[in-house]
Amino acid sequence: MKSLADLVRQTEFTREEIAFLLGRRETNEVELLRQAAEALCFAWVGNTVHFRGLVEFSNICVCDCHYCGIRKSNPAITRFFLTLDEVMQAAHWCAEQGYGSLVLQSGERRDEAFIDFVETAVRRIRAETRTAQQPDGLGITLCVGEQTRETYARFKAAGAHRYLLRIESTSPHLFRQLHPAGQSFEQRVQCLQWLRETGFQVGTGVMIGFPGQTLENLADDVLFFRSLDVDMIGMGPYLVHKQTPMAAQEKEMAARHGEVYQLALNMIAVTRLVLKNVNIAATTALQAMKATGREEGLTYGANVIMPQLTPTEFRKDYQLYEGKPCLDENRDQCKMCLQRRITGAGRVIGFHEWGDSRHARDRTENTAPSGEGGSPSKP
Ligand code: 5AD
Repeated sequence: MKSLADLVRQTEFTREEIAFLLGRRETNEVELLRQAAEALCFAWVGNTVHFRGLVEFSNICVCDCHYCGIRKSNPAITRFFLTLDEVMQAAHWCAEQGYGSLVLQSGERRDEAFIDFVETAVRRIRAETRTAQQPDGLGITLCVGEQTRETYARFKAAGAHRYLLRIESTSPHLFRQLHPAGQSFEQRVQCLQWLRETGFQVGTGVMIGFPGQTLENLADDVLFFRSLDVDMIGMGPYLVHKQTPMAAQEKEMAARHGEVYQLALNMIAVTRLVLKNVNIAATTALQAMKATGREEGLTYGANVIMPQLTPTEFRKDYQLYEGKPCLDENRDQCKMCLQRRITGAGRVIGFHEWGDSRHARDRTENTAPSGEGGSPSKP
């Protein structure tokens, strides 16, 4: 077996090597992995952290995913839908801060009223957030689930250019365990292909550490990200929500807290080692496990953070999992707190730019010197 120091310096990895790296737990071993991932992050995508203001505009959902707190059969939350004015207020605030991009996320709906709302919001945000520093307006990422190819094309034509759709798990068996019968792994993959065909920069990701998932499953997830040639990754630890069927495994998950947290960090690092020039988010779920989780995610090779812009009064009803941080804070408090944390971690914030991934730019501009997605920038 190769030494860990040799392994993390490789450029190609087998499934077994990926699973081995993901399973490292000893302090000195994870530090080797972390340093390698951070160095690769700086070399390929730089020191800059990109912000995407996150607007969770509705928790109304037609899906019933077994893990998710806003699943349609949870009666214990108040359902909400922001008005277009409330979305625009959040967008204006985002532009004024120089955050550059925004994510519109919600529970899943496929009816015309919903599609029309998203389309209108996208059009208005692009048109009304133009500034001298950003003449094209805010960049817009959508995260509104499985839709038809036609709907994706409408969203793209309206002016959104990035789309996040997590595969949740690339094991069809585990996917079936996580979802009710009406949802299929194949349909999710089909949607990801449609997103690419309709011209979106595509992001996907998985939940990390849920019961029954092995290191080999996660290694397959990383290889799936690579085979799909994705531009962005958003993934985080699985966290129990009490009003879901999976709450039955709450005790088991509580006992695995430290292990799952480290596994989530290792997933970021290994994804950076394997995919190199993509954008990787340090997600809020990491912070739910540990106060400094998102900053730590950055030190393991992530380069994107999604500050909460959802109006405070609605945040308590948009808890996909328990322990979601910052429920009582407003966006100004979140801003100050985040900026301090990021600059404290020695990183620079990329204001007034869309911050597309290097991978997406290399693919669209076709400037890859090696023909394989480019090479590291000069440090
Ligand atoms: N724990 C962690 N992540 C969750 N998500 C939904 N429910 C949970 C949970 N209990 C994630 C899913 C989804 C994203 C919007 O939130 O991966 O794609």
